Amino acid sequence: MGLPRLSLKRCFLYVFCFTGMLLVIINVRQKDIWQSLRTNPSQVQAVRTVPEASKALNFTGTINLAERPVDSSDPSRRPWYMKGGRRMPFPAVKSRRTGRRLAKLWPDEDANDDRVTNQLMFMPPEYNRTYAESHLKKIMIPHGMGEALTGRDVFFNQKCPVNTCVITRDNMENADLVVFQDYISHVGHRPPNQIWMIYFLECPYHTQNIKNAAINWTGTYRKDSDIVAPYERWQYYDPSVTQINQHFNYAANKTKKVAWFVSNCHARNQRMRYAKELGKHIQVDIYGACGPLHCPRSQAQTCFDMLDVDYKFYLAFENSNCKDYITEKFFVNGLGHNVLPIVMGAHPTDYARSAPYRSYIHVDEFESPKELAEYLYRLDNDDELYNSYFKWKGTGEFINTYFFCRVCAMLHDDRPPKSYNDVNDWWRGNGVCTSGSWREHDAVAMSSRNV
Ligand SMILES: *[C@@H]1O[C@H](CO)[C@@H](O)[C@H](O)[C@H]1NC(C)=O
Ligand SMILES: *[C@@H]1O[C@H](CO)[C@@H](O)[C@H](O)[C@H]1NC(C)=O
Ligand SMILES: *[C@@H]1O[C@H](CO)[C@@H](O)[C@H](O)[C@H]1NC(C)=O
Ligand SMILES: *[C@@H]1O[C@H](CO)[C@@H](O)[C@H](O)[C@H]1NC(C)=O
Repeated sequence: MGLPRLSLKRCFLYVFCFTGMLLVIINVRQKDIWQSLRTNPSQVQAVRTVPEASKALNFTGTINLAERPVDSSDPSRRPWYMKGGRRMPFPAVKSRRTGRRLAKLWPDEDANDDRVTNQLMFMPPEYNRTYAESHLKKIMIPHGMGEALTGRDVFFNQKCPVNTCVITRDNMENADLVVFQDYISHVGHRPPNQIWMIYFLECPYHTQNIKNAAINWTGTYRKDSDIVAPYERWQYYDPSVTQINQHFNYAANKTKKVAWFVSNCHARNQRMRYAKELGKHIQVDIYGACGPLHCPRSQAQTCFDMLDVDYKFYLAFENSNCKDYITEKFFVNGLGHNVLPIVMGAHPTDYARSAPYRSYIHVDEFESPKELAEYLYRLDNDDELYNSYFKWKGTGEFINTYFFCRVCAMLHDDRPPKSYNDVNDWWRGNGVCTSGSWREHDAVAMSSRNV
């Protein structure tokens, strides 16, 4: 009697197991069937995004303007920030998929670029509405930055494409942005959404520590600042044309070798020692407080004119060796004359990113001042080689980077909040400056990595 009941139970169990397995198999097969019917999901997305992107482009009638080569034959077709340029930005193109604008404006969006031209050509996606409503962003500047007059003049005078901003010197409570030049002053209560920006023009050795301040943005010459404020900014007309043949002999009639104008004789980077050492191997004429030759400040122009006619080389030595620290000593005194600058200051890779192609010689390209002197002799005896360092002339221009136009435009960008954990560490942390040469610095960094 017990046996049949037991087998009936077992029978149920078998049937139950079998149906269960069947269901699982069907389910798996079904998934297979579905998958084979459907195309690859990423392909579907790709097919969908392409036409949408081009539709979006056509909608605002623009492509990524900053990356389009500039037409050098007709200056008026250049962007508005170049000499004679008239091309103005259109409201930014947004991705249909993410709803975000495509332009790369911030360091976390493009770490390898200063984004200056993208910012100059940025107009918020719905800018016509902002403009019509005339909602002004308030920029409060508690001290310094004398060029920033209160009111909206600076934005109108500079013909900023985005000009719905106003500068104030008081009423911090109402400000969208507070810009502190060099130090944080005690300005009172900080509303939760207020953006604080620190603005530095001097290098870390000549700026103060920022104490206990939550800084959101930085405005400095460093290329990884939020709003980069370079001493000068080179822009090619067409990035694929960096060299053109010159019909001028830059070596003609020059009888002297190296010139240096200097007033601070005890700079941190030992530039005086380097120049003296170089002087043992090639003629180095030192003008100013640290050398035997004199050139009164009142006649500075005449002195710099000597660079055009008498000297082949000019020492554009900064007073500090710090990341991206390249001043008008190089851009204006050096590249502004018909002379070949020899540079010391920022890292060689920083010069390569900031300067026109083959427009200078970096001291760290050479093992020693003696080796550099030997190369200078070679250039002195080979006009063609010497002239090859001037082929950048005419391929572009130093642009006005309209700092306040960009500040205003960036205030209208809809980005997630950001801030620096420790702005002092960013500004003067390890590896930012070096007291010796970058050559030694890199060698030490390399060997400590290998240990
Ligand atoms: C884009 O717009 C222009 C003028 O608004 C029109 O002539 C052109 O055909 C459009 N292109 C596409 C791909 O829709
Ligand atoms: C802004 O421009 C868009 C597209 O050109 C248009 O649809 C919208 O009506 C404009 N808004 C205002 C307030 O003018
Ligand atoms: C070099 O000197 C000669 C003779 O004085 C002059 O004709 C020529 O224009 C000078 N060249 C340059 C580049 O200054
Ligand atoms: C600015 O920084 C503060 C402090 O870190 C943060 O609370 C705030 O969200 C930031 N604001 C913006 C707009 O980034």
